[in-house]
Order: sequence, then structure tokens, then C-alpha cells
Amino acid sequence: MTASIPAPLLSIEAVAKHFGGVVALDDVSFPVQPSAVLGLIGPNGSGKTTLLNVINGVLAPDRGAVKLAGIRIDGKRSCDLAAAGVSRTFQSARVFRTLTVRQNLFIPLLHRAAIARSAAVDRADELLDLVSLRPHADRIASEISGGQQRLLEFARALVTRPRLVLMDEPFAGIHPEIKALLIRSIRKTVAQEATSFVIVSHEVPELVNMSDFMVCLVEGKVASAGMPLDVIHNERVIEGYLGRA
Ligand SMILES: Nc1ncnc2c1ncn2[C@@H]1O[C@H](COP(=O)(O)OP(=O)(O)O)[C@@H](O)[C@H]1O
Ligand SMILES: [Mg+2]
Repeated sequence: MTASIPAPLLSIEAVAKHFGGVVALDDVSFPVQPSAVLGLIGPNGSGKTTLLNVINGVLAPDRGAVKLAGIRIDGKRSCDLAAAGVSRTFQSARVFRTLTVRQNLFIPLLHRAAIARSAAVDRADELLDLVSLRPHADRIASEISGGQQRLLEFARALVTRPRLVLMDEPFAGIHPEIKALLIRSIRKTVAQEATSFVIVSHEVPELVNMSDFMVCLVEGKVASAGMPLDVIHNERVIEGYLGRA
């Protein structure tokens, strides 16, 4: 009998992308398994954000394929990918600043997830509990701290119960307490909802700690991919990223 290998949730296959003469991604391939955290590292300009943009349909790759549960998604529009279960957070939190914290979840829940009002209230409260924002539910979003807005944006990304969440530098410039809350919320979401994450971060120790698999890009190419501790000890990763002053 052969052991069954789970099919990847996402597979990046020989993806290339250039901007004029700049090669941003060159023959990038790796899988993301279901219920897994993939940590994506690399120096500035190595193609990390470009890769997230290719995965969620902001950019079409020049070559290669991106598959979600075996189905080609490269070249599809972001809104179609959101419906297919791909969600995203940004480095600067995107929230409705004039709405309350709860409305920030309740309104997209009603519109995007198309659920009944009472179910939307319950789900909004569940998400507020997940990110520890329930005590701030009735405050206007612009009045909570930047870090709390980051937590709210994370909760908003989960409204549609996505299969995959892409996060671009979620820990940059936030208070350690908020960082710990965010990491705990990500872990809970993986465990309870079987969601997968692709997380770009320069906070290498945290990322090593929370990732099941790691990829390091250097100049648009995969310098190393595999178990986090193997990746950070890889010679090309030390030379191309970690060892740089
Ligand atoms: N829209 C764009 N137009 C032109 N060049 C771009 C664009 N986006 C990214 N680049 C270039 O592609 C390379 C990879 O950028 P990026 O994906 O933002 O890297 P990272 O997120 O790893 O810092 C860089 O050389 C960057 O200048
Ligand atoms: Mg970037």
C-alpha cells in the first residue's frame, strides 16, 4: 500500500514575471499544503509582494501557472479569486474608518458572505473574539490604534471563510502585544478552520516558529524551500539575505 500524499491547496508552477527589464520572478515553484503556514522571506526587491499579487490575481504571470486545488487561477481577477477562497491583508491596514469595529465585519458579512442577519451578528462577534476586539466593538474604527486596525483587517480577511490568506508584512511596526495576538489568531484559524496562510515577513524568528514550510526568494528565484530551520541555515539564504548587513 502507498501512503497517500495530500494534494496541495495551492501550487505555484514555474512562475515568471518581469516589469520592463526587471525580472521580479524567475521560475518560481512551490506548493502550499492545506491547513499550513508558509513563511515567505527574502531581501527587499526579491519579488515577495509580486508573488502575492500573482497569487491573488492583481498581476498575471508572464509564464507558468498558479493552481488552487488543482484548478488554474492565474490570470483570473481578484474578485473571482476572493469568491474562490483567496483572501489578503496589506501592510497598511485597510478598514472602513468611519464605521464601528463591529460594522467593519458585519457589513461585509452581509454583502459578501450573503448570510442571514442573525448569523452575521454571531459570526462578527466570533471574529471579534478571535482577535480580542470584542471590548472595542462599538468604537469607530479610526479611533482604535493602528495595531488594533491591523487585527480588525485580519478579521475582515476571514469574513468569507477563505481557504487561503495572503499576508504582506503583517508584523511590521506593530506593538509586541498586538503581534502576539495576531500570531495567536493565525494559529487558531489554521487549527479551527483548516485555513492556509502565505506570510511575508522580515521577522525571521517569529516566522520560523509559526511556519510549516518556508521559501526564501533572492532576486526573484527560489534560493531555498523546505523546513524552516533548513531554509534559514541554507548557504544561499545566508549569503543572499540573512547574512547581509
Ligand atoms: N509595478 C511595478 N513596476 C515596475 N517594477 C516593479 C513593480 N512592482 C515591483 N517591481 C520591481 O520588481 C522587483 C520585486 O519587487 P517586490 O515584489 O515589490 O519585492 P519585495 O516585496 O520582495 O520587496 C523589484 O525590483 C521592484 O522594483
Ligand atoms: Mg514587498
